[in-house]
Amino acid sequence: MEKFYVTTPIYYVTAKPHLGHAFATIVADILARWNRILGKEVFFLTGTDEHGTKIEKAAREAGKTPKEFVDEVANMYMGAWKALDISYDKFIRTTDEEHEKAVSEFVRLVWDNKDIYKGVYEGWYCVPDETFIADFEVKDGKCPECGRDVQRVKEDAYFFALSSYKEDLLRIFEENPDFVKPNSRLNEIVKILKGTLRDLDITRKSVTWGIPFEPDKEQTVYVWFDALINYISALGWPNGSKFTEFWPADVHIVGKEISRFHAVIWPAMLLSAGIDLPKTILVHGWWTVEGKKMGKSLGNAVNPIDLSKKYSVDALRYFLVKEKSIWEDGDFSESGLVSRINGELLADLGNLVARVLTLAEKFKGKIDGKAEIADNLNMSRIMELFDGYDINGALNEIWAFVRSINKYINDTEPWKLDGPRLGTVLNNSLEALRIISILLYPFMPSTSESMQAQLGIKLGTINDCKFGTFNGKVKRGKNLFDKIVTA
Ligand code: MSP
Repeated sequence: MEKFYVTTPIYYVTAKPHLGHAFATIVADILARWNRILGKEVFFLTGTDEHGTKIEKAAREAGKTPKEFVDEVANMYMGAWKALDISYDKFIRTTDEEHEKAVSEFVRLVWDNKDIYKGVYEGWYCVPDETFIADFEVKDGKCPECGRDVQRVKEDAYFFALSSYKEDLLRIFEENPDFVKPNSRLNEIVKILKGTLRDLDITRKSVTWGIPFEPDKEQTVYVWFDALINYISALGWPNGSKFTEFWPADVHIVGKEISRFHAVIWPAMLLSAGIDLPKTILVHGWWTVEGKKMGKSLGNAVNPIDLSKKYSVDALRYFLVKEKSIWEDGDFSESGLVSRINGELLADLGNLVARVLTLAEKFKGKIDGKAEIADNLNMSRIMELFDGYDINGALNEIWAFVRSINKYINDTEPWKLDGPRLGTVLNNSLEALRIISILLYPFMPSTSESMQAQLGIKLGTINDCKFGTFNGKVKRGKNLFDKIVTA
């Protein structure tokens, strides 16, 4: 069976899950579910990043031990993903024993390959981003990435010979133009690589909340070096059978501010350890609020669970993918969400299902007849968009099909028909709904399920997305969506 391995970043346990995190996880869930209905065996990984200075500090501020603190927030993430219908196969925590062992083994391989040397790190460090920053990048004592204060650090440290992988990485990018998606992000990475690529400090002497650095126990492993290894430790690397089955990952989903870690540092680490590289790093844009990145630091984080309770999980999932291109930033507003519910989910889909099922339930004749609207469905385009991970494009294409069925109903006016002609129009409409219920499954799993329950059919696979003779047993149920009335 063909395999598909998709990962989200592992989230820092300093922040509670917000809409930005939910977006990344929902994107991964959609890809996982899509690949399941393609008939592949899927492994979908998410989890939490639990070591490092900022977590040590956050625990202290909360009056807890780091362990108590990380347990609590990791549980919050698991709860949030359950509430949002996230079908992950494994939730990794970097404090898992299996992960810690894998990190030590990884360090050993890189060490044996003579890619680690001792030195002194003197420079700046951004605690919120857990990033080392060169002198020339710091402006007015602030981090160039997030704008927060940086700290001066001077300590003995061990370095990874990142710069020696520059040429290899450039060649890999040239040979695999899909290694980073979209192309504009690949170009950014190539530019970074062609500039000064410095070796990376991979240990911290002053940080105790981390994995001990085996060659020198006075040091702990730098949190990013530790965290990236989750993608293989979760598969039981070095010995686990899942590693043999699922590695290399098909796609690592990451936000744009962490693309450098995934597209430069991670591949260099893997090259050094002699492990295959992942196939694609998918770099998505941010959710902003009034143009500013949503997040804990600005205090503008939106709670996805509250929204899902107020409007439904599926409405939120739909909105997050439909509202903006996956590659670009998009501004969040609750009124935008409401207008997608009323104007699309209800007006295009909910009403369509209700209209067709009401007519079908009343009809006593035979539902069959030739396909009249098969050409409205551009399956190859949908597949192609999914292949390129453009899930916003794929959803737009699916929605064009939904709208075309509304047009078909308006044009054929089945409420004025009867006999075999009505049987044919109903067959086309019901077959269209059946196909729509499959195509929407990755995006809105419970809506898909509810459509199937009302159509009296089972989910099926992508191979079932073609017109035939409808053979379900129709039973109208409750409306898929209710109108949201705002004051
Ligand atoms: N712990 C690191 C990742 C390590 S992966 C080996 C980290 N964690 S994070 O919690 O700060 O961010 C996790 C992901 O959430 C990032 O990909 C980030 O881009 C994403 N998002 C955080 N805020 C976001 C928005 N406002 N919008 C969309 N995604 C954003 O970085």
